Amino acid sequence: MAMHHFPEKGQSPASILDELDHLRQQDIPWEAGKTWSLIYYLDDAHQDLVRRAYDSYFSANYLNSFVFPGLQQIEREVVRMAGELCHLSTSVGGLTSGGTESILLAVLACREAAKKKAGKKRRRDILAPATVHPAFEKAAHLYGLRLVRIPVLEDQRLDVEAMKRQIGPETLMLVASAPCYPFGVIDPIEGVAELALEEGLPLHVDACLGGFLLPWAERLGYVEEPWDFRVKGVTSISLDVHKFGFAAKGASVLLYRDMEQMKHQFFISTRFPGGMYVSPTLLGTRPGGAVAAAWAAIRHLGAEGYLAMAQPLFEGADRIRRFIGEIPELELVGTSRLNILAFRTVANRPDIFVLADFLEEKGWMVDRQQFPPCIHLTVLPTNLPVIGDYLDDLEAAVEFGRTHPAATAKGGAAMYGVMARLPFRGMIEKEVSHLFETLYGAEQEGNAEAKPSWWMGLLNRLLLKFG
Ligand SMILES: Cc1ncc(COP(=O)(O)O)c(C=O)c1O
Repeated sequence: MAMHHFPEKGQSPASILDELDHLRQQDIPWEAGKTWSLIYYLDDAHQDLVRRAYDSYFSANYLNSFVFPGLQQIEREVVRMAGELCHLSTSVGGLTSGGTESILLAVLACREAAKKKAGKKRRRDILAPATVHPAFEKAAHLYGLRLVRIPVLEDQRLDVEAMKRQIGPETLMLVASAPCYPFGVIDPIEGVAELALEEGLPLHVDACLGGFLLPWAERLGYVEEPWDFRVKGVTSISLDVHKFGFAAKGASVLLYRDMEQMKHQFFISTRFPGGMYVSPTLLGTRPGGAVAAAWAAIRHLGAEGYLAMAQPLFEGADRIRRFIGEIPELELVGTSRLNILAFRTVANRPDIFVLADFLEEKGWMVDRQQFPPCIHLTVLPTNLPVIGDYLDDLEAAVEFGRTHPAATAKGGAAMYGVMARLPFRGMIEKEVSHLFETLYGAEQEGNAEAKPSWWMGLLNRLLLKFG
């Protein structure tokens, strides 16, 4: 479609909406259930309510919460309700725009608290499992800190002993995931918390993905170990309402055990000619709608609604796990019992990415992973009606792999083969940066021709990760 210029005259609402419908047809058809991440859609009735709640605060700018006492109460209530899910007796925390912002703030609070405590002695190491979300690497990048990736064990859970060995005078904080995105496993939170207490270090639990899932998983018997503030030593937890809370995009909760830690995330400027500028989070202007939508989603579903949502997801994932267990060429990666899992081929025969290519040709959006090469699935409500179709296609993919042993390292597989070799990683980073320069830079049309389209296609595919 041709690129528009700034219009001299405004267009009619009908033509604008028509065009949006048209553009949306270029996007992934997630309604068909072939997308195993990114989209958290429950049903039309829930979505309609969330949208109307968003609309009710559409114009509110939550930068200045003091002029929106109604919205302030809504935020307090969301924090209290999320706190109750995580067994926090005091509701200390706030809403942010998403998991990444919650994580950036949690790390900032650790950095600032350490600065106050230690004076000039610099603590800069974030110790986190190798499976941790890249938001922590982003935090390290932005704040001049260092992410130390701690190995995981065969079950893909953090190796607590390895973390212990890495703790030193420069350690700033410890991190664990509940669960991690790639494999859906929960790190040994109690083990890490023990280290945190012994060493007097803060511990952040990244429950962005699991915060609105694990309470129901526990009630249904899928999770046994405590992962939240019941564990002494956990300092802060992030949990995203815009994931399994089924709110509108733009809502995560960051909870703290106490204000002593949280206060370090606040930013206050007294020298601005425009007046005192105070900001509790990273953003300036904040959409009030996202706050209201988060509140509406939680109040609409309640524990009953979330349980009813979660149970079929866990059962759907069990069905996939059973199926994988029956195919000799396939095996699970990690020991997830949640609806977030990964699988690979035994000894990578047939090549797992040949299967990925096959599935993609059948219209599935495939989430390829590295270390080890495998395929990720987050079972979402939209996937439930098509799990049988997916398993049929997966069976056909394995059969194709069996009968075409020469079909290795093609398409996405080739790309990940390259990624796995260290000397090339810098080149990949440069190419991805180039892709962004093309996307955001001037003269889109001209730039698009600067690279062969297959290369752009591969890079694009890589960027469809971490939903
Ligand atoms: C475990 C985990 N942490 C953090 C994030 C980041 O969340 P967001 O994409 O909302 O910034 C994600 C996103 O998928 C995640 O899975």
